[in-house]
Amino acid sequence: MANEESVDKTEGFITKLVTELVSSPLNIGLLCICGFLLYKIFAGRRSSPPPRKPELPKMKKQDFTLEQLKEYDGRGLEGRILIAVNGKVFDVTRGKRFYGPGGPYGVFAGRDASRGLATFSLTEEAIRDEFDDLTDLSSMQMESVREWEMQFTEKYDYVGRLLKPGEQPREYTDTEEESTDDRKSETEKKTD
Ligand code: HEM
Repeated sequence: MANEESVDKTEGFITKLVTELVSSPLNIGLLCICGFLLYKIFAGRRSSPPPRKPELPKMKKQDFTLEQLKEYDGRGLEGRILIAVNGKVFDVTRGKRFYGPGGPYGVFAGRDASRGLATFSLTEEAIRDEFDDLTDLSSMQMESVREWEMQFTEKYDYVGRLLKPGEQPREYTDTEEESTDDRKSETEKKTD
């Protein structure tokens, strides 16, 4: 008896949830986007892996202008992909299935992804071609950018800073190159 009641309750909840989800065009749109992204992520995983290319050598530490960053969108000769998050540039080549051409987050490749990540948007307006100082973002959005930055620091190699217009690149010494300073050591980095 109690069992039947709980089944009824669960069915009622699911019916309510489905009705709620399909009741507005915005929800339907969001469901479609989620479905599309999940499809891209999991279809990319299922398809037979391409012949394994040797991993690219670690990039020399350097600072980048937005223009220089653009060259690393995965379409270059090496296929290297860089992404900036909160002023820091990461080599995300090992996440090619996410950021490579045709990947679900390919729009971030070679660009500053901060605003897109903060606003959970993959539209062109969220990824600007001019330098973005992010000053109009709310404190919650900035907190989210910092969390993404930490996630990227854990998973990918930090290669340098994103330069503001007119800012000069730093000269990195070889010791800095080797040093893990505030970064995680290679062995600690997650592999895909
Ligand atoms: C709306 C529906 C969405 C769904 C269902 C979804 C799903 C997922 C899943 C399942 C993963 C983990 C994949 C894995 O580790 O194998 C992932 C990672 C990620 N998602 Fe989404 N996502 C959505 C929207 C977004 C949006 C709007 C953004 C950006 C604004 C975004 C940015 C990312 C990033 C940056 C990663 C990490 C990739 C990495 O590890 O380098 N996602 N997403």
